[in-house]
Amino acid sequence: MSGASGTPYAAAVLRGLLAAGESVDLVVSRASRLTLLDETGIGFRDAHWREDLRAWLSRGADGKPGTFDISGADLDRVRHWSAGDLAAGPSSGSYPARGMLIVPASTACVAGVALGLSKDLLQRAAGVTLKERRPLVVSVRETPLSGQTLKQLVALDEAGAVVLPASPAFYAGATHIQDLVDFVAGRVLDAAGVPHGLYRRWKGELGEARS
Ligand SMILES: Cc1cc2nc3c(=O)[nH]c(=O)nc-3n(C[C@H](O)[C@H](O)[C@H](O)COP(=O)(O)O)c2cc1C
Repeated sequence: MSGASGTPYAAAVLRGLLAAGESVDLVVSRASRLTLLDETGIGFRDAHWREDLRAWLSRGADGKPGTFDISGADLDRVRHWSAGDLAAGPSSGSYPARGMLIVPASTACVAGVALGLSKDLLQRAAGVTLKERRPLVVSVRETPLSGQTLKQLVALDEAGAVVLPASPAFYAGATHIQDLVDFVAGRVLDAAGVPHGLYRRWKGELGEARS
């Protein structure tokens, strides 16, 4: 998670990964702690990350606490790494990982990964994912986009990443904010090949989602 707006997208992706039985290495950038605090009121603390994560993941995109049931067994499959810990597992290509999802991705993170800056664990792990030729999904959230960011996104695409803007669609019959969030999260999971039932897929019939 980097420090762009869109913490509900990250929560939905995390829930989707856990529902699919995946294990997750979680890296929350320093700036994304601010967006999480701003958007949810939850301060993500290194020493209490399990309870903070549970409070966050159980919250709906509309802010309602207890919308989702997050078990202790779910949390057992999450390993949290401090963003400043450059000796953490995901900083090395030999650490086992299937790929990496940056949700949401700030333009600063896009720039850092495109340039190979590795200024923190998040950027280092993304660079490792690219060099190891593993899937990297970058869900950028900014609007409008500068020419500089557009060029950096092209560089990421050329390096093999999937650039997946946090851009909800309305053809899937959304009626609540959570539906729009889940659409983006579902597309992120699609790009990573993780099965889910987060949104209603297009079936080739206009207006089908309204019926
Ligand atoms: C409340 C808040 C919302 C922000 N929203 C965005 C955003 O939507 N997109 C973006 O690119 N940056 C956004 N930023 C700025 C980034 O947090 C900032 O560029 C930061 O350096 C990103 O660092 P990181 O990539 O290490 O997480 C926001 C900052 C704050 C405090």
